[in-house]
Amino acid sequence: MDWRESLSVGDPHVDAMHKKIIESINAVARSAKSLNDNASVLEYTKAMNFLREYSLIHFRAEELMMKKIGYPHIKVQQELHDSMSYELMQIEGRRSSCMFLMDLLKFLSNYLTEHMLSVDNSEYRAYVARYRSRHPNEAMHDKSWS
Ligand SMILES: [Fe+2]
Repeated sequence: MDWRESLSVGDPHVDAMHKKIIESINAVARSAKSLNDNASVLEYTKAMNFLREYSLIHFRAEELMMKKIGYPHIKVQQELHDSMSYELMQIEGRRSSCMFLMDLLKFLSNYLTEHMLSVDNSEYRAYVARYRSRHPNEAMHDKSWS
């Protein structure tokens, strides 16, 4: 999947984080397709570790921002984030399974659609826009976000 404007939630920092997540999901999917030597396993492991760590950073940052703008469905989003983080940890344990690649690719595509298309991009987007129009000069994000 590539980034496209319709995925924007209206905040450049959240969008930048989402772009980074898409890139790292693509890197995991690409490297998982050829796990046949040490170099490719290493590449996959690196990509997966990055996705796992960066997802945690992103989820927490997003939850903080949702709190700040008064987004009412934060609990639902938090639960979704937690279950995605859990799945990401669990999927590693199934690497020796013959279904691993299929399971992983399915999970990654669900991750994107669930996280960016359904939840983030509907009401959340409207809340971001409303907050921005009321507080045009206020940063919505923490300075430590990267
Ligand atoms: Fe997000």
